[in-house]
Amino acid sequence: MTKDKALKERLLTTLEELEITKNQLKFWTDSIDELSEIQDAFNTNANEKTNLNNNIIVDIGTDCIKPFYIALKFKPTMIIGIDEDLLPFGSEIQQGSRLLTETKIRFYNCSLFDKQKIDKILRKERVDKFDFALTSKTLHHLRTGQCIAKKRNKKHECTEDEKDCIYEFEEEKVFSKLLELGKRVVVYESFAPDEEDEDKIRGRGGYFSAKEWKRVFNYLLSKYEVKFIRPQLFLSKDEILSNLDVILREMDTICFYIEDKKPK
Ligand SMILES: C[S@@+](CC[C@H](N)C(=O)[O-])C[C@H]1O[C@@H](n2cnc3c(N)ncnc32)[C@H](O)[C@@H]1O
Ligand SMILES: [Zn+2]
Repeated sequence: MTKDKALKERLLTTLEELEITKNQLKFWTDSIDELSEIQDAFNTNANEKTNLNNNIIVDIGTDCIKPFYIALKFKPTMIIGIDEDLLPFGSEIQQGSRLLTETKIRFYNCSLFDKQKIDKILRKERVDKFDFALTSKTLHHLRTGQCIAKKRNKKHECTEDEKDCIYEFEEEKVFSKLLELGKRVVVYESFAPDEEDEDKIRGRGGYFSAKEWKRVFNYLLSKYEVKFIRPQLFLSKDEILSNLDVILREMDTICFYIEDKKPK
């Protein structure tokens, strides 16, 4: 390799590294905004301030930062973060947080769908079920179904990096899994149908389309208790469904939680 070529390659690597570092720095500030939009979903008594003492939380698809902020502000007993590709600073936060919070913070490299590993974590942490399961900007990654692109076009070839694939979202499977883990499942999702989802990990299909949201909410509203946090809606199930188009058009992010229906 010539000296010039080697120098050029080094420069390119440095630029890439700089971009990654810039993005990771942005996680810390973005997370503050995002948590301000999510935090009311942790309130279980509307007449009182959110109190998470004695509560345990799992953050699925964690950025490791939100758990740290939640620990500082709400002081739950424990937060576990799982991610199938944990950020490198997770272990530093886990170690360093001991100096700043009494909340036990633990991070695991683990997929929501790795039952064996999840069971092992639950046993290790002596958890039966979490009070809250948070998925922030992660739900649209949890696409477990068949490739729709393949169904649409027989000639489509599913590539190894799955770049052009659109995997189906299986609401029944995913939400039952989430509700196995947490009594209340908190969902925070970006909604930008016209934007390319740059963080389309292995191209599982990008952000949900309006059509997918409608199907998801039809399912959720028929089966679970659903409460909107952003936008704050005091509408009946039918009103929510018939206004969904407007809601999705006006919002860039939505936040809601689901719980099992309470016996009347
Ligand atoms: C867009 S990031 C969201 C990060 C963070 N929760 C936030 O609010 O910024 C999506 C994360 O989900 C993780 N992820 C995707 N599929 C997953 C799965 N099946 N199990 C666990 N984590 C997953 C990815 O590794 C990625 O870190
Ligand atoms: Zn495909």
